[in-house]
Amino acid sequence: MKAAVREAAALLAKGEIVALPTETVYGLGADAFNADAVAKVFAAKERPAFDPLIVHISSFKELAEVAVVPEDIAATVKSLAGAFWPGPLTIVLPKTDKVPDLVTSGLPTVAVRQSANLIFRNVGKELGRPIAAPSANRFGRISPTSASAVLKELEGRIPLVIDGGACREGLESTIITIENRGGEQKPLIRVLRAGPVTKEELQKFGKVVIEKKSVTERPDAPGQLESHYAPRTPLLMFDKPEDFRPEPGKKYGLLSYRGDPKAGYMDLHEWETVEELSPGSGKLMEAAVRLFHVMRVLDEEGLDAIVAEPVSETGLGVAIMDRLRRASAK
Ligand code: TXA
Ligand code: MG
Repeated sequence: MKAAVREAAALLAKGEIVALPTETVYGLGADAFNADAVAKVFAAKERPAFDPLIVHISSFKELAEVAVVPEDIAATVKSLAGAFWPGPLTIVLPKTDKVPDLVTSGLPTVAVRQSANLIFRNVGKELGRPIAAPSANRFGRISPTSASAVLKELEGRIPLVIDGGACREGLESTIITIENRGGEQKPLIRVLRAGPVTKEELQKFGKVVIEKKSVTERPDAPGQLESHYAPRTPLLMFDKPEDFRPEPGKKYGLLSYRGDPKAGYMDLHEWETVEELSPGSGKLMEAAVRLFHVMRVLDEEGLDAIVAEPVSETGLGVAIMDRLRRASAK
């Protein structure tokens, strides 16, 4: 693995782009301070220039190179970093001049996180600079949680992907902003994208609100585009199972939470195929890890549509439902 890490860092230093594992999903990295390299990321992904990238630092010290932490939230940033970094939490902060406008799509702020994946961190350390990396999928499609999924998305467009196995979290990082509300009030933490770090976990550090607005044009925030994380096969969700009206002759697959008929979907229809997110046990963590993989599997079945069972919207279930809803949006 050392040789692969060195090769990746050497490519990045030359202004090339490489796909790397993180604990959330695979990222497509570029030297965050090299605008030409970052442009290659946008090109490979066919990503519109209005959608800014996340910058990954390899130590807390490196934060100062990319962000200017406002004094009134410095203590909160430090506590959150202490609790969740390295890990799947991204904090939006005012940017330094060193960060090219292309990385932030012209925004005065930059989204920063420190990945917990050792391969990713070692590449960052070897490079000695922060790495700008969005998920390594083509724009709007399902994020890759394995090296083979990266190749399906980007083969022929990137010189290297390091295979670090399956991603431990399986969903993209939680993205937040922090505001000091003055006086004795706790800081306000806005969740721009739900992810592995849950509302419940963030509540120790401030008042947490989950932004519900869905932006269809220029997102000031994240994978907030309404249609995102989408398979090519239409994905359908219903308020209640009985709302599903299959068209004759069409092939439907079920994306079930745990394969439990009591959820109301298993026996609803003669499914062409059924995939379970957390077979039998029904664990949200397992469901999160498997979600994008299972979406890909169903997408390759040649179905007319995929019907997704909802999961309970607590803890990690909030992020899972967020991805399912966006995948089902047109
Ligand atoms: O887990 C993750 O976050 C993965 C891994 C590779 O780190 N990355 C990821 O990147 O999901 P991406 O580009 O697919 O999603 C990042 C989102 C974008 O949709 C973008 O809109 C938002 O972060 N973002 C970036 N900079 C921002 C900023 N300054 N303000 C608000 N949102 C921002
Ligand atoms: Mg993405």
